[in-house]
Amino acid sequence: MTASHSSSPLALGVATASYQIEGAVTEDGRGPSIWDTFTAQPGRIRGGDDGAEACDSYHRLDDDVALIRGLGVDAYRFSLAWPRIMPEGRGRVETRGLDYYERLVDALLAAGIEPVATLYHWDLPQPLEDAGGWPARQTAEAFVEYAGAVHRRLGDRVTSWATHNEPWCAAYLGYAAGVHAPGRREGAAGHRAAHHLMLGHAWAREALPGAHVGIVLNLAPVWAESPEAERVADGVDAIRNRVWLDPLVDGAYDDKLLAVAPVLADAELVRPGDLESVKGSADWLGINYYTPVRPQVAAGRGEAHPEQDAYPGVEGLELVVREPRTDIGWEIEPRGLEELLVQTYERTGLPLVITENGAACADADVVDGRVEDADRIDYLRGHLAAVDRAREAGADVRGYFVWTLLDNFEWAEGYAKKFGLVHVDRSSPSLPRTPKASYHWFAEQVAAPAQGR
Ligand code: NOJ
Repeated sequence: MTASHSSSPLALGVATASYQIEGAVTEDGRGPSIWDTFTAQPGRIRGGDDGAEACDSYHRLDDDVALIRGLGVDAYRFSLAWPRIMPEGRGRVETRGLDYYERLVDALLAAGIEPVATLYHWDLPQPLEDAGGWPARQTAEAFVEYAGAVHRRLGDRVTSWATHNEPWCAAYLGYAAGVHAPGRREGAAGHRAAHHLMLGHAWAREALPGAHVGIVLNLAPVWAESPEAERVADGVDAIRNRVWLDPLVDGAYDDKLLAVAPVLADAELVRPGDLESVKGSADWLGINYYTPVRPQVAAGRGEAHPEQDAYPGVEGLELVVREPRTDIGWEIEPRGLEELLVQTYERTGLPLVITENGAACADADVVDGRVEDADRIDYLRGHLAAVDRAREAGADVRGYFVWTLLDNFEWAEGYAKKFGLVHVDRSSPSLPRTPKASYHWFAEQVAAPAQGR
């Protein structure tokens, strides 16, 4: 890798996702998603929270766009709720759902902000889960129908599309570890889901003619804690990184991956032509980075890490988390982002976008209209510097999106873990928004980027 990409500007943005901010879950014909079902089950979500109201963004589109505009960012990454657009999962299109996203896209364009649309950020229509969910091949077929319907309405205005967000979470947290919707705990179902998510991605790209189509992966640097941990670390790397990148780059699942995921050798699951269609099926790659993964050989002591079961087939694994940590318990290590960008660019040769990076912090209260969140600013500053170093080293990184605009519904953690640049006061029925110190800091970065950015 010789070319340096540090001379082209780095686009800056903020990101959100439909179920985490919209609320209005029964409005304008929206059908139920697996997250509506999952959050209704006792004990699944911290505090018994759900996304029924979230940040009420469905009704506050203009407020949200004004906040995004206030940052001065180049781009806004959001997701579309499949159950708003196809309440049954396939077939009938609910035009009121599309109308909402059309209003959003038009408002962004009018404000000079590029819309970056994610098709699937985990809110699968419940009828598709009832028919088998992602472990079933028909779900990938339904996804193509949905992608086509969205693109027919918005394809003339939106150029940058991501098919899936973090398919590792959708597949393995959802179907193997069971800590995300739909809450199934079947290891092989996780692998089946992974295959169908990638297949759906590749097929959907064909349904988006003329679009610039990527996929957002939460790839991770995997750092073995000791020489003895190399075996488990290799298994973790297989499921966290290679199960997505190998088919994308090589059109194959290699033997080491098949050793932890034997079901991927099943000819009923992986059919002739599947891997060939996945090969080369991305115009760009999104990377969500928060923390490195540190595997060690299980000592059987202490509390199991909630994500441990999300690596089915990796026997004797334990995950270690080092200090310093954010409020959600994730190690802060910007070096991991630098390494990941350089290595992923070497592996794929694709233009990279950091589609999410940010920190959950135990923010102070609003005092005189201000929220001081110096720890979030430190986190972001450290990671932006890591991006600069990766670009200096030649990685073709085109964009960086902060997760996230607003304090929102953080999945299994409910509203307790706050990643927003904007504070949302949930104790008041009108959900008032207050930009935090990090919001103002990020706006300054956009206005006066560091040298070389
Ligand atoms: C990954 C997910 O894409 C997003 O939905 C989530 O809120 C953040 N990371 C933080 O966990």
